[in-house]
Amino acid sequence: MKYSSQRGTRDILPEDMPVWHAIENTCKTLFELYNYHEIRTPIFEATELFTRSIGQETDIVSKEMYTFTDKGERSLTLRPEATAPVVRAAVQNNLISANRITKLYYVGPMFRYERPQAGRYRQFYQAGVEAFGPKDPALDAEIIILAHEILSHLGIQDLEVDLNSVGCEKCRPAYLENVKSHFSTHLEEMCEDCKNRAEHNPLRIFDCKNPQCKEYIEKAPAVFDSLCSECKDHLEKVISNLDLSNIKYKINKRLVRGLDYYTGTTFEIISKQLGAQNAICGGGRYDDLVSELGGSSVPAVGFAFGIDRLAEILKNASLITHHLPAGRHGASRKLIYIAALGDDAQKAAMDLLQKIRKMGRIAEIDYFSRNLKSQLKEADRLKAKYVIIIGDDELKSGNLILRNMEKATQESIPIPKMLERINLL
Ligand code: HAM
Repeated sequence: MKYSSQRGTRDILPEDMPVWHAIENTCKTLFELYNYHEIRTPIFEATELFTRSIGQETDIVSKEMYTFTDKGERSLTLRPEATAPVVRAAVQNNLISANRITKLYYVGPMFRYERPQAGRYRQFYQAGVEAFGPKDPALDAEIIILAHEILSHLGIQDLEVDLNSVGCEKCRPAYLENVKSHFSTHLEEMCEDCKNRAEHNPLRIFDCKNPQCKEYIEKAPAVFDSLCSECKDHLEKVISNLDLSNIKYKINKRLVRGLDYYTGTTFEIISKQLGAQNAICGGGRYDDLVSELGGSSVPAVGFAFGIDRLAEILKNASLITHHLPAGRHGASRKLIYIAALGDDAQKAAMDLLQKIRKMGRIAEIDYFSRNLKSQLKEADRLKAKYVIIIGDDELKSGNLILRNMEKATQESIPIPKMLERINLL
């Protein structure tokens, strides 16, 4: 008797490994330079964790979960994604709170009972990050910049970053009413699933692939057009941060994503080198999920790459990692924290932050607009070895302060010399 791997699963063979290793190493190196820390959660969890977080009416929960009852009569599910498990683990292990930043990353297999096709598997692999604490739009931008940087290190081109906001508890209810009333006049002609979705979760109608529903979906109001001023303002700030970093994006007013937990910013990165399954990265904000899952109210934002799809793009490429910053393996693990005071300083700090990370050094910044004393305290909590202080006075004088946290000594360094000095640390 000969056995084969199950439908939708496959063996990743030794000959495939150079590409897989390049992707995983690039992700891990860059995640760590951005001060994310690895977490590994179990492959299976209580089924309810996913039904509550991803949402009962989503395709993932209603059709695609590998759910089984174990010998103790518990309903368990192979994880279809990692955001909910990471939130569960962060709450259970007291890793997060609303007034400090916690950055976690993961790499591993996920399971969805989807119809297999090129780029769509039942066991597939993701590499992702989740950042908890700040609500600052600069953090949303930071994760998009991180994703972008990983893709450029891998030499992946022809990308499109689609950006949107799905609103918040203030603006979404009115939008959902609008959507409901739009579809109510067409429901007779729409599929059974959509009839059900219109009743329970109208946003999910946008996931429908049925040709008979397409026409009505195209004419439906877009969530982007009903955003409240706060959500608009948040999205604009994400955009201005992306502009500062020269990241190209497209506003996709209809991007809703296939999971219910998102609030505000959502994004996807699409590769033009792939066929129908062309999304290589998806993510966004989920400010209500931690409290939904039993924690206190802690805003969060994250994304996940589909590694299988990245591997497909790279399979014929000549590799790649020679541009990789030394980071995880070579460079010093000493964290450099940038304390910025005021809006202009924040901008200068974001720029410096990216340059330091590009040098292969781990760097972090404050996303809570706190005073200097609190920022130094936070730098201490994060075990930063050095703090660079940028305030209005420093910007005016053109000299930044570099503080050695262990020795409690400070030196004043001209801005153009700062990177050189950091290289010596
Ligand atoms: P997602 O969009 O469902 O988001 O998945 C992220 C990526 O995983 C997709 O863009 C795609 O590349 C890959 N992927 C998904 N399903 C499959 C499949 N069946 N076969 C191959 N690749 C697949 C999430 O999972 C969210 N947890 C992302 C996130 C993190 N949001 C916030 N934090």
